[in-house]
Amino acid sequence: MRNISVIGTGYVGLVTGTCFADLGNQVVCLDIDETKIEILNSGGIPIYEPGLEETVRRNVKAGRLSFTTSYAEGLKDGEFVFIAVGTPEGVDGEADLRYVRMAAQSVAQVLDHPLIIVNKSTVPVGTGDWVADIISKHKTTDVEFAVVSNPEFLREGSAISDFLNPDRVVLGSLNREAAERVAQLYLSLRAPIMITDLRTAEMIKYASNAFLANRISFINEIANVCEALGADVKEVAVGMGYDKRIGRAHLDAGVGYGGSCFPKDVKALAHMAAIHGRHPQLIRTVMEINRHQRRLVIQKLRALLGGLQDKTIGLLGLSFKPNTDDMREAPAVEIAHLLMNEGALVKGYDPVAMGVAVRALPEIKLAEDPYDLAEGCDAVVIVTDWNEFKHLDMVRLKTLMRQPVIVDGRNIYEPEPMKALGFTYRGMGRGY
Ligand SMILES: NC(=O)c1ccc[n+]([C@@H]2O[C@H](COP(=O)([O-])OP(=O)(O)OC[C@H]3O[C@@H](n4cnc5c(N)ncnc54)[C@H](O)[C@@H]3O)[C@@H](O)[C@H]2O)c1
Repeated sequence: MRNISVIGTGYVGLVTGTCFADLGNQVVCLDIDETKIEILNSGGIPIYEPGLEETVRRNVKAGRLSFTTSYAEGLKDGEFVFIAVGTPEGVDGEADLRYVRMAAQSVAQVLDHPLIIVNKSTVPVGTGDWVADIISKHKTTDVEFAVVSNPEFLREGSAISDFLNPDRVVLGSLNREAAERVAQLYLSLRAPIMITDLRTAEMIKYASNAFLANRISFINEIANVCEALGADVKEVAVGMGYDKRIGRAHLDAGVGYGGSCFPKDVKALAHMAAIHGRHPQLIRTVMEINRHQRRLVIQKLRALLGGLQDKTIGLLGLSFKPNTDDMREAPAVEIAHLLMNEGALVKGYDPVAMGVAVRALPEIKLAEDPYDLAEGCDAVVIVTDWNEFKHLDMVRLKTLMRQPVIVDGRNIYEPEPMKALGFTYRGMGRGY
């Protein structure tokens, strides 16, 4: 059992703290957002993540997990403090490090015993050294500390299982002993643990996300060629995926990647490269293809409906991917704005993100369910591949629509059966 403090109780911090508590450690999660901490202290969960509510409740009940807004209280007994605050996109595409700076300063102010500071936020290469400088400058006592980088690879929607069954644990530090002590926290997961220097660990995270985004943009480019040449990208991806050197993951053509990680991390990597005099052409093209995929949806709708002015378009799925309520950089947000710019009326429905959608897309009309969404629509766009959208009563849906037009931005239906039902159906790269 170890004493662990986690700073930032968002998607990463809350999952990290809860899972470490579940592994038998004593964990305090800390956030400056008083509302979040109030919700957690009164037995609620501020985000949607499958399995999280039950795991939080179990560990709070066992006395292993607690929540606070006070740094003094949160770090009182901590041997390890994980920083898991947000690193959103800055004005020029760089990672905005203001929350990391605030967290490091606050740690320094209450630092009164030796501590290992573990950076879990995705941060530009060199941030670990910068955090160490901030702590050294602001600490008021002469205690020792070490900084370890421990990038997080979990995916929203399967965050608990990803945390507990990681493909690898990456630890970077100039202080090998500190990294080895952090490694002890993960030993029971039986995952490969890799210890590197600080900067290499920070780069592994960016390179991994950029590579995955690259696969998505690659298959989207292939999809667009398929569409022109009459091939079916879904089968192309399956055929490619059988090759062990390639694999099947992240080869789903569609409206492109979104969310709180890929868009900002790919951009931040390009920014890091550019300010150091490099020309990240491949990464820039990955971003350009991704932007194009959302515009492609608008082009398809415009062509099918003969313009978008006063047309009603329903967006099926608003979260950036299934099993999360996160709408940061969700394709639905950009698609909705592009549609409204062309004079369309936009409706939306999502199984769990409706509360978030009220704030993220206040201009659109929210529907009760997929059928309420379809009512009066000139077209429905499938934006998120939620399981519950895969077996809709399409006959009923069609009778509710003003025009039976479907743009399937996730290729969850098959063109032929949809045509047989009387729909004008367009997938992404399906060939006709
Ligand atoms: N969300 C993911 O799937 C994911 C996966 C891997 C890595 N990451 C990275 O992890 C980091 C956190 O991401 P997230 O999605 O959990 O963010 P989030 O926005 O959900 O949560 C961040 C939390 O930090 C809190 N915070 C901000 N400043 C603080 C401070 N000074 N002291 C205490 N709390 C503070 C905020 O109030 C918020 O609750 C980011 O760097 C992100 O890139 C995210």
